[in-house]
Amino acid sequence: MPVPVVTHKITEDRQSLLIQKPTSGLSFASPIRVPGDKSISHRALMLGALATGETQIQGLLLGEDPRSTAECFRALGAEISELNTELVRVRGIGLGQLLEPNDILNAGNSGTTMRLMLGILASHPGRFFTVTGDSSLRSRPMSRVVKPLQQMGATIWGRKGNSLAPLAIQGQQLKPIIYNSPIASAQVKSCILLAGLLTEGETTVTEPALSRDHSERMLKAFGAEVIVDPESNSATIVGPAKLQGQSVIVPGDISSAAFWLVAGAIVPDSELLIENVGVNPTRTGILAALGMMGADIGLENQRIVAGEPVADLRVRHSKLKACQIGGEMIPRLIDEIPILAVAAVFAEGTTVIRDAAELRVKESDRIAVMANQLNRMGAKVTELPDGLEITGGTPLTGTDVDSHTDHRIAMSLAIAALNADGTTTVNGAEAAAISYPDFTTTLQQICGQT
Ligand code: S3P
Repeated sequence: MPVPVVTHKITEDRQSLLIQKPTSGLSFASPIRVPGDKSISHRALMLGALATGETQIQGLLLGEDPRSTAECFRALGAEISELNTELVRVRGIGLGQLLEPNDILNAGNSGTTMRLMLGILASHPGRFFTVTGDSSLRSRPMSRVVKPLQQMGATIWGRKGNSLAPLAIQGQQLKPIIYNSPIASAQVKSCILLAGLLTEGETTVTEPALSRDHSERMLKAFGAEVIVDPESNSATIVGPAKLQGQSVIVPGDISSAAFWLVAGAIVPDSELLIENVGVNPTRTGILAALGMMGADIGLENQRIVAGEPVADLRVRHSKLKACQIGGEMIPRLIDEIPILAVAAVFAEGTTVIRDAAELRVKESDRIAVMANQLNRMGAKVTELPDGLEITGGTPLTGTDVDSHTDHRIAMSLAIAALNADGTTTVNGAEAAAISYPDFTTTLQQICGQT
């Protein structure tokens, strides 16, 4: 009987994954599918809840983050059927019609839920709302959305100068603004555009580099007037808008596919086919970065599904070389930097990632945590204030590592373990359920352990 590559150990509410280096390449009996895109899933639930009529969502991510969004919008009056991947029905309550819940709205671990919802709540006059999240979210900066909302006339209170949740919001009739965001953030952009839905006139957000544009696409599909200017990286919403329920098909999440792309690239003799992955150009920085590193990744069967570009991705093992990443590319791969750091550990030369200080305020400080955890395995990673310097080529050795309750760190370390000698124990692996509940099952599957 071969030794299983991946085993679980569950203690109280924590889970550890014990991972052995596989003795042969990763492959599939049938192609892999990744769960639905997290960003698109949140937006489909929110716009469905705000629209008139019914929205039907196929392929929704069943992770904990979209569950938080669904719970919040149920409390605000939308009817959302039981969440499943086949078909979720959302009966919208209509723009401006949200109810005032008699309890605190809980965004859990989800920055997208909290920041986007704040724009919606702040623009609903006459209602009072309170919002909180888990301990990670309660320490993440909310001033980046509170400040522009205050410029629009919003009334928001919170800890540390109204910058930390729990937050209290007195809904108001807002006024339009032109907001020059100092950071390229789709959460900031989307919060303001959503606040503009009920605001009379043109509300504009300009960002220093283009962040993911799912809100702009979906708002247009639901019937809002959105003007996008690629020259200035700006998006404008014309309010008051009308939203009509739609049918949304959620593609697979490229941020989840990224784990298998790197796994296939670093484990000798591997070949993986990942079907139905969203390849929106504002999200494909990971393909460009891995391409620069010499990874063998092909896009097959490219098509447009419900307004979003989709493809099947095939990856084969290849020799990787270091690359330099920064500037405008960062927002296109912001969530993939932890797994990109894993690829860099196995690449020849020194990879430098800059302009990514945002990583310090994600679900964990992803710069510090990735550097510490990979170094525990024997890697040569140096923290920079705004990124990482990674000298590849040193073999890794399995040891105990920890996710710091961050889903993307848990999964990145599990992939690094596939190319580390001996056994790696990834503690806090349960965090993966935030965006990828079936991660372990797929990991076992590609290691031949079905
Ligand atoms: C997201 C935007 C990004 C990303 C997050 C999801 C979104 O955050 O990191 O996982 O759905 O809008 P920022 O807007 O903070 O960069």
